[in-house]
Amino acid sequence: MEIPRAQIKQSDLPKDLAKHKYHIETYGCQMNVADSELVEQILIKEGYEHTPNIESADVLMINTCSIRDHAEEKVHSQLGRYRKLKDKNPNLLIGVLGCMAQSLKHELLDNKPYVDIILGPDSYRKLPEILNRSDIDSKNIVDTTLSRFEVYDDLFPSRKEGVNAWISIMRGCDKFCTFCIVPFTRGRERSRTIASIVSEAEQAVSDGFHEVTLLGQNVNSYNSDGFEFHHLLSELACVDGLKRIRYTSPHPKDINIDLLNTMKKYDNICNYIHLPLQSGSDYILKRMNRTYTRDEFLILANNIRSQLPGVAISTDIIVGFPGEKLSDFNDTLDLMRQIKFDSAFMFKYSKRRGTKAIEYDDQINEQVKQKRLAKVIQLQKMHTLFRNKKMIGKIEKVLIEKISKKSKSDWAGRTESNKWVNFNMNNEKVGDEVDVKILSSNGISLRGKIL
Ligand code: SAH
Ligand code: SF4
Ligand code: F3S
Repeated sequence: MEIPRAQIKQSDLPKDLAKHKYHIETYGCQMNVADSELVEQILIKEGYEHTPNIESADVLMINTCSIRDHAEEKVHSQLGRYRKLKDKNPNLLIGVLGCMAQSLKHELLDNKPYVDIILGPDSYRKLPEILNRSDIDSKNIVDTTLSRFEVYDDLFPSRKEGVNAWISIMRGCDKFCTFCIVPFTRGRERSRTIASIVSEAEQAVSDGFHEVTLLGQNVNSYNSDGFEFHHLLSELACVDGLKRIRYTSPHPKDINIDLLNTMKKYDNICNYIHLPLQSGSDYILKRMNRTYTRDEFLILANNIRSQLPGVAISTDIIVGFPGEKLSDFNDTLDLMRQIKFDSAFMFKYSKRRGTKAIEYDDQINEQVKQKRLAKVIQLQKMHTLFRNKKMIGKIEKVLIEKISKKSKSDWAGRTESNKWVNFNMNNEKVGDEVDVKILSSNGISLRGKIL
């Protein structure tokens, strides 16, 4: 399947711009992937052409993430490489976009004078104006104004080929978990209208996509003129030809019975929920401002499993949050054992400037964090295996996504519950949904046989 990069033809472009090339690199979460697709669409409209080769770019954009120290370090080292390219080609324009642009504006301005453009996540509409300025190569251009309204409702992204289309449905976060920088880099919560989201999904289907994943920092806090997340899901479930709907990340506090009922009602809403726990200790959850207790979380997880048979639940866990005693950490292990998540993203707490938790004076040392991380990873491995083994013998609907990395005569696709399955190839094609019998489980992936 060949998806055009954009609807605009080269012949429509102003002649002097036709050969300018951009390259964009994306770090961080899926929201950033979706934002980069918006930025690409803006650049293409301005006459720029994508190049996969960083060395031949006239404009080099890096869309950045501030969530943990490690994420920022990766961007800093990449910017070091960009600087060398600029030494060779002084006309190269370098743009830093996204969450680090928002949170590290001053440091970038002071220490990285070779960066020409600094744009926060709500400022991408400024790009055409900026690129057309005559003084662009003599001055840094900075815009990190956060907006209460910007949702880029009218801009459709330039998507890469594949089976899944990302659709941002809301932006920002009002939850202010004490460890998290997102409310500062992304600003306040705001949602797009149902009509514009539905029309983007219809466009994605007519462009050849089979699945949409709805994105938001708290995707289920979606609220547009009183319409809630489950209303939106019901509308999307009726889009003709849309085989699968996924969403990420919901906040546990905002999962309600209406959402579970809607998931139950429509076959094309995938039977999978990412439910970030963070910690199993009431003391730590309170200090994190997560707004639920361990018991409430456990009841919610059990409720989801009883309402949605066969559902998979994944999670996020932070170890070594300030003040986490051994007994708090053991509470996390204990809750993990009770719930047995299908999979988990596990992190060491990372101090973020501007957040409340950085001020706590009982920070945990690095060795303890490392040990605790190793422990949760080991435990989760057992649970993933346990959940995957339970699927052996079952017949699962699998959406074919690509040729398996392990063998050219096998397909790889995901079950509704978001698990990868490799299975034998006959006459199917990418994008087909097929029934697969699960034969074995091998760590995180499954092996099956097409029926
Ligand atoms: N909005 C989502 C999470 C977005 S950030 C939610 O509330 O679930 C993704 C994950 O990064 C979080 O769930 C958390 O586990 C992790 N994270 C965020 N800030 C962190 C920090 N300072 N240190 C370590 N992990 C962090
Ligand atoms: Fe961060 Fe909490 Fe908002 Fe998630 S809900 S983005 S963890 S502040
Ligand atoms: Fe990172 Fe910003 Fe996403 S901090 S995780 S890119 S919202």
